Amino acid sequence: MKVGIFDSGAGGLTVAKSLIEHPIFNEIIYYGDTARVPYGPKDSNTIIRYALEAIEFFNNFNIDALITACNTVSAYALPSMRSKANYPIFGVIEPGILALHNRIKDKNANILIIGTRATINSRRYEDELIKLGYKNITSLQTGMLVPIVEEGITEGKVLDAMLEYYFHNLNIPDAIILGCTHFPLIANAIGDYFHNKPLLIHSGDAMVEYLLNQGYKALEKEPQITIYASDNVYQLRQIAAQWL
Ligand code: DGL
Repeated sequence: MKVGIFDSGAGGLTVAKSLIEHPIFNEIIYYGDTARVPYGPKDSNTIIRYALEAIEFFNNFNIDALITACNTVSAYALPSMRSKANYPIFGVIEPGILALHNRIKDKNANILIIGTRATINSRRYEDELIKLGYKNITSLQTGMLVPIVEEGITEGKVLDAMLEYYFHNLNIPDAIILGCTHFPLIANAIGDYFHNKPLLIHSGDAMVEYLLNQGYKALEKEPQITIYASDNVYQLRQIAAQWL
């Protein structure tokens, strides 16, 4: 089984990492649209257009399934992408919601969703959680955390200042949905900020759980991964070598 993983850039490698640590597919074709990242501040029509171009890219690879690691793309483009593909396409929002629902039974729990401007404005996470009966939901755009991670800053003063900027007037949540590919890389700092009390929902791990629930089987052997990018593939491969 060959799976494609699509992201706006490098961040989706966090989802690839989960699928390397918990193999389900023999082969991963990763495509990061590094020429046009970030998607988070862009208009929904642009996000859908870019996502459809990614489908054209994957037409070259005969994949059995596609994972949209990008939360922003998952929030807007799945119906359009599915209408152009003859294989299943999985976004990260549904798995994230399920992972939370399986773990947080108290409907009064304090849930914090963090993501890009586009993801938060889509209300996709929020609406699904409301449908499930959760009552205390806070959604926060934290898009500035994306370039910080892109710069390789995953700890230290600059990041701490940014977390303080975004989180200073929040109560400690019971759970945080890391609704952006980059945030698992700063999960430690986010956890520390809230004294390691909240449960953190990570898209990659949620995806593994979701696919196993869908009937996909766990494999023994690590998948082979090939990385492509729309700009400077060598740089993305270098980042992959570090992160993976
Ligand atoms: N991959 C995006 C997401 O998960 C973050 C980076 C971007 O804005 O493109 O929403």
